[in-house]
Amino acid sequence: MKVWFDGSIAAVGDTRVSCLAHTLHYGTGVFEGIRAYGVEDGRTVFRLREHVERLFNSARSLRMEIPFSPDEIENAIQGVLSENGLRDAYIRPLVFFEQGGMGLDVGAHPRNPVRTLIAAWKWDSYFSTSEWGDGISARLGDWKRVFPHPSVNKAKAVGFYASSYLAHMEAKSYGYQEAILIDEDGNLAEASASNLFLVQDGTLFTPTTCAILPGITRDTVITIARDLGLKVNEEHIPQGRIFLADEVFLTGTASEVVPVTQINGQQVGSGKAGPVTKRISDTYRLVVRNAYPFSGEGSERVAHWHPMTQEA
Ligand SMILES: Cc1ncc(COP(=O)(O)O)c(C=O)c1O
Repeated sequence: MKVWFDGSIAAVGDTRVSCLAHTLHYGTGVFEGIRAYGVEDGRTVFRLREHVERLFNSARSLRMEIPFSPDEIENAIQGVLSENGLRDAYIRPLVFFEQGGMGLDVGAHPRNPVRTLIAAWKWDSYFSTSEWGDGISARLGDWKRVFPHPSVNKAKAVGFYASSYLAHMEAKSYGYQEAILIDEDGNLAEASASNLFLVQDGTLFTPTTCAILPGITRDTVITIARDLGLKVNEEHIPQGRIFLADEVFLTGTASEVVPVTQINGQQVGSGKAGPVTKRISDTYRLVVRNAYPFSGEGSERVAHWHPMTQEA
């Protein structure tokens, strides 16, 4: 695998990072998850600009200065895909602090330089859905989504994933495929690495962006749903409501749109992917390949979601 590391392409085994890197010790890095899709005339990276913008915003929240411009990062992403001959791919930019002083202060002598890595690989599906028909099982426990401070809540930061990891591993140990986390007030928040939607009487409900990562897939799904004429409510959702939902699904760049058909041993709705979830999921598959003609209120918003198709 070839990666882009601080301005040049390198074999993954040739990138040297110190075991005393600040990020390894203190969880100070930021990252992104982006998908490229093969299309007839090459490949398209879905909502690349928004993902790169979020990477820069995450870095700013963590007081890290990425030593490249957004355009350079976008070009580097296309370069990594081409170097690895990838069309359908998952892309992982990671920005981290290297070795410097061993205290928390990255500005103290010697400074901790900022490093930028972009990797990409083929990652077909994040969840295996075979165990529960066409959906996954989830555990709603008492793990809280990390909410350290409002100023950094929207950052996709390495260290924030420790609780997601623990919730996910606990769910797995109980035999579930994923964990659903709650916010500080006990309302539904999101899954370990994706956002959460409930469907009740044909209307979509999703937690507000207060205590979640405001997902780009979440935003895409809201746009799709409204374009399809469905109602979407963003609100605080008490956790008990998940057991009354007709349908539940997760959204994320890696996982895309995934039905949840069993929660804490209880069947959701019919126990199969519901009609609204299927409609959203089918449309999402077209949208990411630039093959869905928006006709409703989404049409203006989506014009720049596929800025360019590159030859693979
Ligand atoms: C905690 C968390 N929530 C939600 C998401 C979904 O975000 P997106 O749709 O932008 O991939 C992710 C994935 O990056 C995530 O890690």
